[in-house]
Amino acid sequence: MSQKVLAFEQKTLTGHITVPGDKSISHRAVMFGSLAEGKTKITNFLAGEDCLSTIAAFQAMGVSIKREDNTVLVESEGVNGLKEPDQPINLGNSGTTARLLMGILAGLPFHFTLYGDDSLSKRPMDRIAHPLREMGAKIDGREHGRLLPIAIRGGQLLPIDFKPNVKSAQVKSGVLLAGLLTDGVTTVEEVTKTRDHTENMLKAFGANINVEGAKVKITGNKNLTGCDIEVPGDISSAAFFLVAAAITEGSHVTIENVGLNPTRTGIIDVLNMMDVSIDVMKKRTIGGEPIGDITVRASKPKATVIEGDIIPRIIDEIPIIALLATQATGQTLIKDAEELRFKETDRIESVVHTLSKLGATITGTKDGMIIEGNTKLHGGVTNSFGDHRIGMMIAVASLLTDEKVELHDDECIAISYPTFFEDLHSLLSN
Ligand code: S3P
Repeated sequence: MSQKVLAFEQKTLTGHITVPGDKSISHRAVMFGSLAEGKTKITNFLAGEDCLSTIAAFQAMGVSIKREDNTVLVESEGVNGLKEPDQPINLGNSGTTARLLMGILAGLPFHFTLYGDDSLSKRPMDRIAHPLREMGAKIDGREHGRLLPIAIRGGQLLPIDFKPNVKSAQVKSGVLLAGLLTDGVTTVEEVTKTRDHTENMLKAFGANINVEGAKVKITGNKNLTGCDIEVPGDISSAAFFLVAAAITEGSHVTIENVGLNPTRTGIIDVLNMMDVSIDVMKKRTIGGEPIGDITVRASKPKATVIEGDIIPRIIDEIPIIALLATQATGQTLIKDAEELRFKETDRIESVVHTLSKLGATITGTKDGMIIEGNTKLHGGVTNSFGDHRIGMMIAVASLLTDEKVELHDDECIAISYPTFFEDLHSLLSN
């Protein structure tokens, strides 16, 4: 396991960067391109480890997928051209690959075995296995299919009307994809709308899908047709530099071509709520997704309460928001975020443990955190625990102290942001 000593002399971030392509959209482009007949060209694809796991899974089912840097060409004969993989499928660290893929595989006439790394093997799969079983899928695995490794005997499924009891785009998407492979109409009705990239992109590939607020209806048995997808920059990756700029003296950073899908822009709302100087400019649309440039200047953030419907819109940004809160005036409360316990790590525990080690005053609660502001952070020995977003949070925290921060297990950052340190160095050297 590799480690890094983080000790940046210069701590002011200035300049313009673009961040790598959106992880959620990159996964879906490969999956839907593989289910579609014809060619799908994906540009600005995120070549992070999670998305590479998705590519490998569909290559194992006989789809031709060629990647050159951040451009991917998928050529498929459609659902009927897929074949049974002759080896178990390794999902690595990727929860999105696991949950969405399970929805697809459940409807194919083959046998599959899925496994993942230590972290993924601890994450709950029953949230997707249950509705798929209701649709007729045969799924088994450790703890009766709650945990990987999981075996799926796919086959003809029945449509379902499903009201998920977890706020998860992965679960919604897995059920919609299974619905695509049935002969009828499947609906998924959420209490709070989660990210809707599946709905947007399935439409672009020609699926018969209808969205009314938080209710999605898909009519199955409709062939998809390949199309070109340009992936916007990942706002969840941009968030690390937006916060870094907000909390380091003299900083002024613009991140260009960032995805601004309203189901993902909770971080902009939180920065505004906390009085951070933020502007969103050059708003435009690429491939059905809104994008724009985001500028943040060093600010004096103020504490806030974060709860309710905004949580799914910031679920991946909470670790870096917690760091921001340590620098705000007052006490910040984060509530209704129990889903954090089911991420690459239990992110309530890993954020509280890590920021406490660096001098923060932060307490975990059942469904969130209480964070005291105006704290002076110090150096220390830290570990990402294999969680890319904890690794990047630590790197940004190291900008707040003149002492050394040791980051163990830093390589996991490549899961979502392979060029993170290059981009950080480029902003620090302007
Ligand atoms: C994702 C959904 C979210 C998010 C994950 C990506 C997706 O997970 O945390 O990084 O692409 O659908 P949940 O569906 O578990 O909330």
